[in-house]
Amino acid sequence: MASSTQLLGRSFLPGATASAGGRDRGGGGAALAGSLAVGRRSRRRSLRSTAPVAALAERVVVTPAPAERLGAAAPEPHTQSVAARAVVTVRRRRKEDAKQRVVEQLDAYADRLGRSVLLELVSTETDPRKGAPKRSKPSALVGWFDKKDVKAEKVVYTAEFTVDASFGEPGAVTVLNRHTREFFVESIVVEGFPTGPAHFTCHSWVQPTHVARNPRVFFTNKPFLPAETPPGLRELRRQELGDLRGDGEGERASTDRVYDYDVYNDLGHPDKGAEFARPVLGGERMPYPRRMRTGRPKTVTGKPSLSLFYERAESRVEYPEPTYVSRDEEFEEGKNEMLSEGAIKALLHNFMPLLVSSVSPDISDFAGFHDVDNLFKEGLRLKQALQDQLFQKIPFVRKIQENSEGLLRYDTPDIIKKDKFAWLRDDEFARQTLAGINPVNIERLQAFPPTSKLDPAVYGPPESAITEDHIIGQLDGMSVQDALEHNRLYMLDFHDMFMPFLDRINAQDGRKAYGTRTLFFLTTAGTLKPIAIELCLPPMTEGCKRAKRVFTPPADATSNWLWQLAKAHVCSNDAGVHQLVNHWLRTHACMEPFIISAHRQMSAMHPILKLLKPHMRYTLKINALARQILINGDGVIESGFTPGRYCMEMSSFAYRELWRIDQEGLPADLIRRGMAVEDPTQPHGLRLLIEDYPYASDGLLLLWSAISRWCEAYVSVYYASDESVRNDTELQSWYAEAVQTGHADKRDAPWWPRLSTPADLASLLTTLLWLTSAQHAALNFGQYPLGGYIPNRPPLMRRLVPAEGDPEHAHLVADPHRFFLSALPSLTQTTTFMTVIDTLSTHSADEEYLGERADEAWTADPDALAAAREFADEVRQAEEEIGRRNADTARRNRCGAGVLPYELMAPSSGPGITCRGVPNSVTI
Ligand SMILES: [Fe+2]
Repeated sequence: MASSTQLLGRSFLPGATASAGGRDRGGGGAALAGSLAVGRRSRRRSLRSTAPVAALAERVVVTPAPAERLGAAAPEPHTQSVAARAVVTVRRRRKEDAKQRVVEQLDAYADRLGRSVLLELVSTETDPRKGAPKRSKPSALVGWFDKKDVKAEKVVYTAEFTVDASFGEPGAVTVLNRHTREFFVESIVVEGFPTGPAHFTCHSWVQPTHVARNPRVFFTNKPFLPAETPPGLRELRRQELGDLRGDGEGERASTDRVYDYDVYNDLGHPDKGAEFARPVLGGERMPYPRRMRTGRPKTVTGKPSLSLFYERAESRVEYPEPTYVSRDEEFEEGKNEMLSEGAIKALLHNFMPLLVSSVSPDISDFAGFHDVDNLFKEGLRLKQALQDQLFQKIPFVRKIQENSEGLLRYDTPDIIKKDKFAWLRDDEFARQTLAGINPVNIERLQAFPPTSKLDPAVYGPPESAITEDHIIGQLDGMSVQDALEHNRLYMLDFHDMFMPFLDRINAQDGRKAYGTRTLFFLTTAGTLKPIAIELCLPPMTEGCKRAKRVFTPPADATSNWLWQLAKAHVCSNDAGVHQLVNHWLRTHACMEPFIISAHRQMSAMHPILKLLKPHMRYTLKINALARQILINGDGVIESGFTPGRYCMEMSSFAYRELWRIDQEGLPADLIRRGMAVEDPTQPHGLRLLIEDYPYASDGLLLLWSAISRWCEAYVSVYYASDESVRNDTELQSWYAEAVQTGHADKRDAPWWPRLSTPADLASLLTTLLWLTSAQHAALNFGQYPLGGYIPNRPPLMRRLVPAEGDPEHAHLVADPHRFFLSALPSLTQTTTFMTVIDTLSTHSADEEYLGERADEAWTADPDALAAAREFADEVRQAEEEIGRRNADTARRNRCGAGVLPYELMAPSSGPGITCRGVPNSVTI
């Protein structure tokens, strides 16, 4: 950020000092706003650039205009013209195949012969004689041929312009690409105008004319609210948004830039067979947020006559063929490289276990814990006898094994690095509800016994079967009532989420789940201990008489293993809700409509779009990939989690029953779960009831508060009054469309916050930035470090917990380790899952973290930049404070013998799996 200061310099006009509060930008109509905008523009005229490109300025001269350019009838003839230069930085692909290189060379030769790239400057002013924006003559980009063999990743080209001195300030640059292929414009700087260098917001692909006939427009990096748009840019602003919205028709091509909505009708593959059909998500029956529209053709099967259910199914594109996202949403090369490394690893990791189980079905289960450990020590190696047998038959297997020895080994997950047996302990099981990868389901018990909200006619009596007798001995001498009153009882309650699906889940082969409830007692040390686990099945579940079973901490060997199995079922519930609801639905999927709408409704010049931009990076692409390989029918999520083919129906159920944006911000969520109470004496008006709750204390006191202050400061730069928010047509359209169309199934809900005041806007933005950055990081980047050791957190269970008298009970008693592992995912399920969460937990090298912004010239507004620097400072301080907290022995939920520090909210990180780092956006 420091270089941004240099880049933008300071205003030298008297009285132009940045004010800390809001500016008087008025809201009383376009005339007033327009005049204020003029004031604002004139204030900026004194900006001077000291950026590296300014070195070119010495060659830019102000020359007398040729006499023939001066119109005889012009009211105020100018005696001078401006010689300006556009400096265009183009980013080249690092890797290209032979065909691409040939096309590039051909383009360079064609450029020399005249099929060049043409630029035009557009003034912020209109020409009163024409009533249209003042435009320069088109000028060709120079140097394409000469630099055709330059190996650098970034290549700079220039275009020269001479315009009349009355041209005004350049507000946009148009680029017409007459080459054969697209190119990526990183930035454009125009120098030579008395107003100083003008920066243009690019970072975008420019398509050739045979793909997109009209020139591409890049606007100045000076933010303008819609009503303040300089006259010369108004029409372009309108046109550009129209282009981005498209017409909602036809199939999208990979070169398109259009953003539009659709339902999740491409998860199933009914053409492949009825078992691959999946319900459409989105609509009255299964509410869901909308996703990016691709317009692909409908499936052949599933016409209304066959099944109304699938009438809107869209045909699938199978990975690695890309599914449409707007061109600029595609991953850049660095990210793609990270994913393709992951894909190679995945291929090997999946291939070997399949081979192992195909030649030796008896080892498809883990025989003992040493087999699990071997995944990290040796990787998946074939036993000698099998090797000899196989190598003779299939020689390439030897090659694979020899060449990829390193890749076949799995990284040791953090959870067993410091203390291999921590996962077995009750205190660690409880600690992970506060500092694990799903720290957002723990709630304070406010009445005993806990009850269900489901229909008792269907699901039986709502009361939990946990009685006072079950827990009284665990409460340090307190009565249940005392413990409730003193906020000492907590709960993980997955009963109502799972119960409606259990009959169907448990009817699937090798999948067994309960609706679980776990009660915890808050000790005087500030840690939680589990005191009872209830495992519930629907009353009518066939073959199971015990609809509700209660387990308490064990007293002997057998009850210890039953307790471990009960905990594993709780973890499996927790893993499912974490992935399907908290991670996927509440961050990835629910953000998508806000992102689509932002691009459709707010111009690149809109200050709020500028704020949101880094928080939207890669999300549409990663969500599109998720539809292809993760959440699709028979995809990784279905195969890895207990609910199987009902995974996404559960996600829809959670959206319908639970999701509401007004409770997605951290303070509201903590209050909803009873984990905090309002307390005006506290810095944020909230008091945590478990003080050492690492997710909440780092989240609330460090990151939420920093984000909140940043949003308030930024909003105050542009909105001084309620009217200014209400009269911002683009802003209002953005929010309205995100609600009405993007979250159409929830649009009539009474809880949607109003967007009428600057405070409303800051609050909405804080929630969105929180969800895309800290909340997603907390839920995402610990997946492999904590979940990569499957016994700690089995995503899938294959057996119910046996009761005395069941035949399985004897197996448990005879060989508890083997029985326990046989209830967990199989070898192939385990390795597939590990491979996926390995990739999902990885930061790519091009990640941008909270407080950082790669595009330093993202705005020309010094007030916004000053606020951004303060935010970056606060984020840095948060990181230091997190380091101190992790070293504080009084904080036993993040510091102690073998205890993992809580770093998921520590903003910075290197690439790879680090179990820390808060990217700006949902990038993986
Ligand atoms: Fe994610």
